[in-house]
Amino acid sequence: MERIPEPELMEKKEQVISYDEADFSEGEVNLINQINHYLLRKNISLGEKDLIVDLGCGPGNISEKLAIKWPNTEVVGIDGSKEMILRAQYNKEVSADPKKLKKLRYICSDIKDIKLTNFLLKKKISLLVSNSLIHHITHLEDFFNTIKTMSSNSTVNFHKDLKRPFDEKTALELKAKCSKKYNEILTTDYYASLRASYTFKELKNFTLENDLSSLDVFEEGDNYLIVYGMFKNQVNGAYII
Ligand SMILES: C[S@@+](CC[C@H](N)C(=O)[O-])C[C@H]1O[C@@H](n2cnc3c(N)ncnc32)[C@H](O)[C@@H]1O
Repeated sequence: MERIPEPELMEKKEQVISYDEADFSEGEVNLINQINHYLLRKNISLGEKDLIVDLGCGPGNISEKLAIKWPNTEVVGIDGSKEMILRAQYNKEVSADPKKLKKLRYICSDIKDIKLTNFLLKKKISLLVSNSLIHHITHLEDFFNTIKTMSSNSTVNFHKDLKRPFDEKTALELKAKCSKKYNEILTTDYYASLRASYTFKELKNFTLENDLSSLDVFEEGDNYLIVYGMFKNQVNGAYII
């Protein structure tokens, strides 16, 4: 199936509300567990000196779970949609346990505009995460350039996203399944996301052709892809206040 890009930012209020109100907690908990296992395997423990960044954080579902899992570590969620960041900030304020989110904050910025100079220099990023972001990015090089710029050679990258279905029939079946659980706005968005997502081959080839083979691409079941690992030979890496 041909890739059909969708708008990068989710800016419409009704789209943001539908996304925020949906329950994706099972997949979110899985992602946090996968990241945790990866860090344990690499013998990496995160503490006060570390910084976690969640790119394309949306309403903050993953950012909040990261902050709760690593309560001593600063977490920064970044999204280019003002509406999403407002929602994330609101969710943080009304959280059942705001104390656990004390080290979490949000920045509104397009990932393509994140430059070392955009932020006051303070901490290197230890863990760079995204969930359901890659398919929004029109050109893969924008995604990989961003995470490369933000990474030092000790930054763990972990990025999970949808995998583009093999054909339109499969995409429509997944859409029909989604419509049983979620409202029409979310179902329409999900279908657009499926068509906009990348294949394993596209991601893998990109890493191989751009000297990024220290990053691995993994297929999780039929519907998801994970890009993970560390960049080699990175001298700098972004710092975020
Ligand atoms: C499908 S949502 C995922 C939200 C969140 N990561 C989660 O798992 O719940 C994708 C988010 O990425 C954001 N996004 C897309 N392209 C972006 C870009 N170029 N810069 C910053 N954020 C972007 C959208 O605005 C949206 O909030």
